[in-house]
Amino acid sequence: MNYTLITGACGGLGRAFTELAAKNKENLILTGTSEKKLSTLLEEFKNLFSEISVKTYVCDLGSLKDREELVNNISSEGLTVSRLINNAGVILEGDLERFSDAEIMNVIQVNCIGTLDLTKKLLRQRNKDELFEVLTIASVAASYPIPHMAVYAATKSFLVSIMTSLGEEFKGQKVTFTTVLPGGMATNEAMKQSIKSMGLGGKLSCTDTIKVAKISLMALKRRKVLVVAGGFNKFLDFISKPFSKKFLAKNAGKLWKKSQKKRGF
Ligand SMILES: NC(=O)c1ccc[n+]([C@@H]2O[C@H](COP(=O)([O-])OP(=O)(O)OC[C@H]3O[C@@H](n4cnc5c(N)ncnc54)[C@H](OP(=O)(O)O)[C@@H]3O)[C@@H](O)[C@H]2O)c1
Repeated sequence: MNYTLITGACGGLGRAFTELAAKNKENLILTGTSEKKLSTLLEEFKNLFSEISVKTYVCDLGSLKDREELVNNISSEGLTVSRLINNAGVILEGDLERFSDAEIMNVIQVNCIGTLDLTKKLLRQRNKDELFEVLTIASVAASYPIPHMAVYAATKSFLVSIMTSLGEEFKGQKVTFTTVLPGGMATNEAMKQSIKSMGLGGKLSCTDTIKVAKISLMALKRRKVLVVAGGFNKFLDFISKPFSKKFLAKNAGKLWKKSQKKRGF
């Protein structure tokens, strides 16, 4: 039986993917960091889940042991993943020096190493006679360096780079890679404050999670490699193309510094 695996299924965008996939009658493997959050999600969506098979697994993406356990469980239960939605991610905002080594390592472990390693492990387990789709959620923050949010932006650039490369490596095989770059999504209080502090630009960049999930799934269906989600974000992406990374970093840095000052960073 084929399954769609969604990482970070209990988060804002993860829930949107879960809802749409369940409505589309896809069997689901939902992962997250907490048993309790996963049980709550099962309870909340029980009506949607009544006609499909849904499995939940706790998996800290930053832990190699957890990733190994997840793929071993999938294999021993005889499940086949045919669509992987790499949605889980950690944001880290502020100047580099204010973070502990552990905080910096965690963002890199979850956003980069964990996402890549899980993708690799599931690619190895795939049924080569059938289509295997990889949808990865990066961010518009991947498009240029962002001072005061440097590590997060760099982890998302890593995802864009690696998933685009893999798309070429797997050409001719039944594997597709689509990466989506959303702008702001008001998924929690911190994100709401962040979007608000950006003024009109923040408001225009902000997209509803269901809309981002729909854009992402449409991009996946159309075999798009890279998609910026939202009209305003697409426009910003387009007009920023002729400028140097240094210029963009300087201006993005000013914007973020101002926004963080408003939020008392
Ligand atoms: N919100 C935005 O403005 C925005 C903009 C651009 C891109 N994005 C990206 O969109 C994706 C979804 O973000 P969101 O806004 O929906 O954030 P969210 O509500 O905070 O959800 C993040 C998800 O990541 C999971 N996660 C965090 N640490 C993890 C770990 N160590 N192992 C496994 N899972 C972990 C969380 O799982 P648990 O809930 O189980 O802890 C949570 O479900 C992320 O990749 C984010 O970077 C967000």
